[in-house]
Amino acid sequence: MLVAVASDHGGYALKEKVKDYLRQRGDKIVDLGTTSEESVDYPIYGKACAEAVASGKAERGIVCCGTGIGISIAANKVKGIRCGLCTSVEMAELTRKHNNANMLAMGGRTTDPDLAMEIVKAFMDTEFEGGRHKRRTDMLDEM
Ligand code: RB5
Repeated sequence: MLVAVASDHGGYALKEKVKDYLRQRGDKIVDLGTTSEESVDYPIYGKACAEAVASGKAERGIVCCGTGIGISIAANKVKGIRCGLCTSVEMAELTRKHNNANMLAMGGRTTDPDLAMEIVKAFMDTEFEGGRHKRRTDMLDEM
């Protein structure tokens, strides 16, 4: 799968680990920054990643900031994006099954890196259930 990734400084180390993990799996990556732990503004990176997904340049997006909160808020402002902030494997499975999330957000300062890779695996490998959930995601996409 082609995955766009982005982070601010607080999520930079986790983003780099996500890239290594995705490469190992054979996924393709578009890295939209940032490129170091120098302080930057998370809305810029959340928006860039979300626009790549919304435009179809990437099939999925993964974004990281210190908590995952700010960058997920930024991503969800882009029409067509359903970005789930996940702190457990169960949340990642459910945001795919129920929300058809096309983006995942995680916190580089709040989520253990090994757990984060399990979260990425669940996000990448879990299918949307459709049915009643499709009605609800259609409602989200209309907003
Ligand atoms: C940056 O210090 C921090 O505020 C940011 O990474 C993120 O946690 C915001 O939600």
